[in-house]
Amino acid sequence: MALIKERIADIQEQLRNLTAASYDEVEALRIKYLSKKGEITELFNLFRMVPKEEKAAMGQELNALRQLAEVKIAELKEVFEAQKMQQDKQDLTRTPDPIVLGTRHPLSLVREQIVDIFARIGFTVADGPEVEDDKHVFGMLNFAPEHPARDMQDTFFIEKEKGEQKPTDVLLRTHTSSVQTRVMTSQKPPIRVLCPGRVYRNEAISARAHCFFHQVEGLYIDKNVSFADLRQVLLYFAKEMFGPDTQIRLRPSYFPFTEPSAEMDISCDLCGGKGCAFCKGTGWVEILGCGMVDPNVLESCGIDSTVYSGYAFGMGVERITNLKYRVKDLRLFSENDIRFLDQFKSC
Ligand code: DAH
Repeated sequence: MALIKERIADIQEQLRNLTAASYDEVEALRIKYLSKKGEITELFNLFRMVPKEEKAAMGQELNALRQLAEVKIAELKEVFEAQKMQQDKQDLTRTPDPIVLGTRHPLSLVREQIVDIFARIGFTVADGPEVEDDKHVFGMLNFAPEHPARDMQDTFFIEKEKGEQKPTDVLLRTHTSSVQTRVMTSQKPPIRVLCPGRVYRNEAISARAHCFFHQVEGLYIDKNVSFADLRQVLLYFAKEMFGPDTQIRLRPSYFPFTEPSAEMDISCDLCGGKGCAFCKGTGWVEILGCGMVDPNVLESCGIDSTVYSGYAFGMGVERITNLKYRVKDLRLFSENDIRFLDQFKSC
């Protein structure tokens, strides 16, 4: 009996100072004390030999010992379990999560492509304000005072004072041609610039129209610039943008700031010019307006029209993007829907 008591005291002492350096060591301790052949289990086996009158007290002592061992081992296990979980979280052998890259906006992609194509033949980029005055958007570009483009229907006018409805001469530019006048009044020829930017028109928003969109304006002023130069540059652009088989055609048109003026079509690349639903059976799709800068415009910007001549052209970035990527609804460009934008990942 004394032997069992001694063993109990002994194991109690060991349990009080129980330590382990790893999860495996804790498991070894559990086996040492509590498994089928463990030291505490062995004591329970000896219990049979304890005299009747001592059984109750000894039973209590043994139960208390087993409980102490279970609690101590559970405490140690908890420490290492927390550590183990932490290690699992920082599994250095795991393959990394893929980083989801954003995409560039299709309009930015196309604008950069246009700028890049013209940069290769010497055009630099010029910038101008979006909030403009009547003079730079219309007046200096040879728009007659009563020209319909100045009408409230088309142009967003900026109110001078709160509540004042009367049109003022401060407005949101309706086209990037306004940058032409800014450049011509601040630089001397030769001028060879490209002016990308946002423009605003007072239109109801639908699949085919928006109150803001993007244009790229081109301007070249020098001595002896001819319509043939314009045609050649535009043919180069069309082939670079839409492929080497692309054809162009120029149709007479009218713009106040160019004389003569033209609209340019490219051969429909869907049907190869044979005629399809996209080009309405004509084999051609319109992409830009252009012409020789009107001498009135040169003079209003302080450039001698007897010495210098030049050409200008202007195109809609949305239009070019639609032709390249067949986007059917203009609103997609400004809705920032990831499902739409994601499709330009590889562009
Ligand atoms: N500004 C015109 C528009 O918004 C486009 C344009 C046509 C620009 C002919 C030009 C040009 O420079 O020569 O519709």
